[in-house]
Amino acid sequence: MQDPTPVARPIIEVLTDRAALVARAQSLIMTKIAEAVGDRGSCSLALAGGSTPKPLYEALAQADLPLDKLHLFWGDERYVAADHPDSNFCMVKLAWLDPAGVPPEQVHPMATTADDPEAAALAYEAELRRVLQPAAGALPRLDIVLLGMGDDGHTASLFPHTAALQAGDRWVAVGEKSGQPRLTLTAPVINQARTVIFLVAGANKQAALAQVFADQADAQAYPSRLIRPQGQLYWLFDTDAGKNFQ
Ligand code: 6PG
Repeated sequence: MQDPTPVARPIIEVLTDRAALVARAQSLIMTKIAEAVGDRGSCSLALAGGSTPKPLYEALAQADLPLDKLHLFWGDERYVAADHPDSNFCMVKLAWLDPAGVPPEQVHPMATTADDPEAAALAYEAELRRVLQPAAGALPRLDIVLLGMGDDGHTASLFPHTAALQAGDRWVAVGEKSGQPRLTLTAPVINQARTVIFLVAGANKQAALAQVFADQADAQAYPSRLIRPQGQLYWLFDTDAGKNFQ
């Protein structure tokens, strides 16, 4: 079998603490936004959920950004109402969208109103197609995908040994955590991005990181191993998470 397309070596940075991690992530994202807007007139950014990126979104809300040229997507979403405390959209709305007054036409949340999560996944594929306008048969190319990683090695809502890992030709899949449905970008769509940035903090992530970076390990067990973009891949750690990378 032909060797897989070569992928860029990950860029690993270990920052002194979470504040430094957020500052570096903000600086990197603002640089990448400026590059995308300069090169193509707009920037598409898929956001991570969870707790780590919240202070980053709060910082971006205070930053001078070309909001009218920025399209915000989500890498994954819990299948709850948009005003539910577990909603990734709700977290970003409170941390960034409302404080910064991001124009609604620039915001593309994963809708969770359909009774059937599969229908919601297909609807989000249609939104990606409408906004990013990939060539026929091509995957959509996001400029930036921001990701977190759980202590089990999952990313987005690509959880170990779940059907969402078998993407096939899907752009958005129905993930599952503890029996609860989630929506998630699939690994092929994430890997199509020009820049992927993992933001990982906490000593509880060390064991999973060792498996993700091991020469040999099961990607079904540690799905962050599936993220091998041809574009740039950054791993930003605080010292607790990145202890073994210094
Ligand atoms: C989610 C996220 C998820 C998250 C990791 C890390 O919806 O929860 O998309 O993939 O990034 O679980 O979460 P923390 O940043 O809270 O450790």
